[in-house]
Amino acid sequence: MIEIVEPNTRGVALAASLLRSGELVAIPTETVYGLAGNALDEGAVARIFAAKERPTFDPLIVHVADFEAQALGPGGIVDEARLDAASRALVQRLAEAFWPGPLTLVLPRSTRVSDLVTSGLDTVGVRVPAHPVARAVLEASGVPLAAPSANRFGRISPTRASHVVDELGDRIPMVLDGGASPVGVESTVVRVEGGGGLTLLRPGGVPAEAIEAVAGREMTRGSATPGPAGAPAPGMLESHYAPGRPLLLLPRPLGELDQRSLAPVLAQVPEGARLGVLLQGGSGDALREAERRLASLTGGPVRAWSLSASGDPAEGARALFTTLRELDAEVGEDGVLLAEPAEGDTGLRHAINDRLRRAAAPRGP
Ligand code: TXA
Ligand code: MG
Repeated sequence: MIEIVEPNTRGVALAASLLRSGELVAIPTETVYGLAGNALDEGAVARIFAAKERPTFDPLIVHVADFEAQALGPGGIVDEARLDAASRALVQRLAEAFWPGPLTLVLPRSTRVSDLVTSGLDTVGVRVPAHPVARAVLEASGVPLAAPSANRFGRISPTRASHVVDELGDRIPMVLDGGASPVGVESTVVRVEGGGGLTLLRPGGVPAEAIEAVAGREMTRGSATPGPAGAPAPGMLESHYAPGRPLLLLPRPLGELDQRSLAPVLAQVPEGARLGVLLQGGSGDALREAERRLASLTGGPVRAWSLSASGDPAEGARALFTTLRELDAEVGEDGVLLAEPAEGDTGLRHAINDRLRRAAAPRGP
């Protein structure tokens, strides 16, 4: 059974000692809660895949407290020699601008990292998290920590300790409770290519535009690189972040859709089903009005929630996964979720829309 532990000095020391002995601990980060294990201990890494029921073709991100000391140089997890001068300079600039923070850089791996961590790829994802509890645990354990989001594979990432309990409560010994994750969506994953090129593998907490401004060049976008043995591209699995109920994504914000353009989506809602609606903005009367409008079209009960009263994207990102979980519980067994996309596809709105699109993607058998 899982223990929920305060992240005070004692809690952090306890987490660090579990991690050093090869156990797993869920820790808060600024993006989402991570399921941490010693990245240099094959047994611990194997336990991460087992606890999440994660397929081994999907590689893990390795978190370090100090990039220079733990990732670069001899004994580091990155093979610096395989970075050309332009890429090395670029990594330096990105590290200075965005670390500690919600950026993951995919870099050439050294032999310190096992094939299990990287799914046999010759690169490793590296992140220096900003959350004080994550940093304290990294420092106290003294090892790099592999940490995917602390959810079962394919499900919504946890942004509170209670979500971790719901996902993995029967599988891991401990979660450090650091409250709600302040960013709310996962890190932006960027692969560093030769000659200082960059490929955006996953939009996330750091806006792609901010990375491009620092890099002084555009990133290649949305190109899903094939994984080993033709497996789905790492991080690019279509169905992901899925709530328990089916989620339908509107083609445009609700206010822009007339009855005719809503019809093809609402046709997928079973007669009389409870409908949970996720809006990007609005409060009070605006939500009640959306509920009335949709109820008149579906004939069933409708509950509308918004991510942020003012439609602020940072507030929206912070609320996204919690709200999806709450709506999911609210509509119950036979319910259906409906979500509107964020207007425009830049910054955190890009990350929000990416997660909604994946939550709406057809699910495997
Ligand atoms: O914000 C985050 O990144 C959180 C917190 C806990 O740090 N972690 C997280 O990990 O979201 P995870 O495993 O749920 O997502 C990491 C993504 C995966 O989709 C994986 O495929 C991709 O990063 N990734 C990791 N290593 C990679 C590599 N070497 N090449 C390409 N993609 C990689
Ligand atoms: Mg994940």
